[in-house]
This record gives sequence, structure tokens and C-alpha cells, in this order.
Amino acid sequence: MWIRTAGNRDLEAIQALLVETWHDTYDTIYGAERVDDITAEWHSLPALRARLTQPQSEFVVADTGDTILGMAFASSKDGRLIELHQLYVHPSAQGRGAGAALLEEIEACFPEANRVRLEVEAENLKAVAFYDHRGFEPVGDTKNCGVEDSGIPAVVYEKRIF
Ligand SMILES: CC(C)(COP(=O)(O)OP(=O)(O)OC[C@H]1O[C@@H](n2cnc3c(N)ncnc32)[C@H](O)[C@@H]1OP(=O)(O)O)[C@@H](O)C(=O)NCCC(=O)NCCS
Repeated sequence: MWIRTAGNRDLEAIQALLVETWHDTYDTIYGAERVDDITAEWHSLPALRARLTQPQSEFVVADTGDTILGMAFASSKDGRLIELHQLYVHPSAQGRGAGAALLEEIEACFPEANRVRLEVEAENLKAVAFYDHRGFEPVGDTKNCGVEDSGIPAVVYEKRIF
């Protein structure tokens, strides 16, 4: 497995990965129908394609050569604070280091950064434990995870990097 920048040809595989990983992670929390609605909007091919060319951002995938195991997307307005918007590893590949490798690559992509911020659903215990073990701490919360007016509550976590 290696980590590389995502490209246009990866988008269908990334979309399939996101749909499957979202259902696996969030069906018990939000319900399958809501997950369908959210993924149809947030993970449409046009929405993902726009991220490939978003300024001051990094879109990376974990690739085995024939399968994309995971993806991460982050941006930084000032180069100092990294906002990690997405970190998803397919359920069949979780617990084998892909998530840690994607996070490490995102941090390396912003060499001037001193903090990473992300939003996590409090009931997503696997993700909370993953971030907790990597030095992230809760710094607040949001009523609108992901996008403005999403109505999805989440805890905001941050970690200092040096
Ligand atoms: C949270 C998530 C991104 C973590 O990715 P992952 O690939 O499962 O994570 P890793 O394998 O890198 O690390 C998970 C654990 O497995 C361990 N591990 C097991 N085998 C490993 C291996 N061969 N190499 C490295 N780590 C290994 C790690 O040490 C780590 O343990 P720790 O958290 O106690 O330190 C992933 O589980 C996921 O996509 N979950 C669903 C979606 C989600 O919740 N995303 C986050 C939204 S905010």
C-alpha cells in the first residue's frame, strides 16, 4: 500500500468507498436513509471532482495498486491550521495502518502547519479512539458537521504538531 495524490480516474472508486464506509459507520447512528441522502449529496462525483482542484487543499488515497483502501481530504486557509474534512478507510481494510498513514501524509503536505482540526460524531467510538490515541483533544463542538446547516452535531478535536 502507498499513499498518493488522488486523480480524476480514482473518483468512482472513492465514491464507492465512501458510500460503503458511511453505511458501515453511520447507519446505526443516523439511519440508512439519512446516510443515503448525505452520501448522495456530499459524495457525488461533481462534489468529489471539485475537491481535486480546490486551492490550498490535499486529496490523497491509500492504494494497493489495484484497490483504493482509503482516502483523506484536508485544506488550510493559512497554512498553519489543517482542517481534516474526510478520513475514511474501507471497513475491510481498517486496523491495518491505512488511516494512520493517510493522516501522516496529510500532516506532511502542510509543512508550516502547527495544528490539525477535525469534527467527529461522538458516537463514532472507533474514530474517537483513533484520534485520541494520536494526541487529539476535544476543543469544542459544532451543530453543523461537514457543511453549513447540515444539522449534524459533532465534537471538534485538535492536535498540535511541531
Ligand atoms: C477511523 C479510521 C479512519 C482509522 O483508520 P484505520 O486504517 O482503521 O486506522 P489504523 O489501522 O491506522 O489504526 C487503527 C488501529 O489499528 C492498529 N493497527 C493494527 N494493525 C496495524 C498495522 N498493521 N499497522 C499499523 N497500525 C495497526 C493501530 O495501532 C491503531 O491502533 P490505535 O488507534 O490504538 O493506535 C477508520 O477506522 C475509518 O475509516 N472508520 C470509519 C470512518 C470514520 O469514522 N472516519 C473518521 C471520520 S471523522
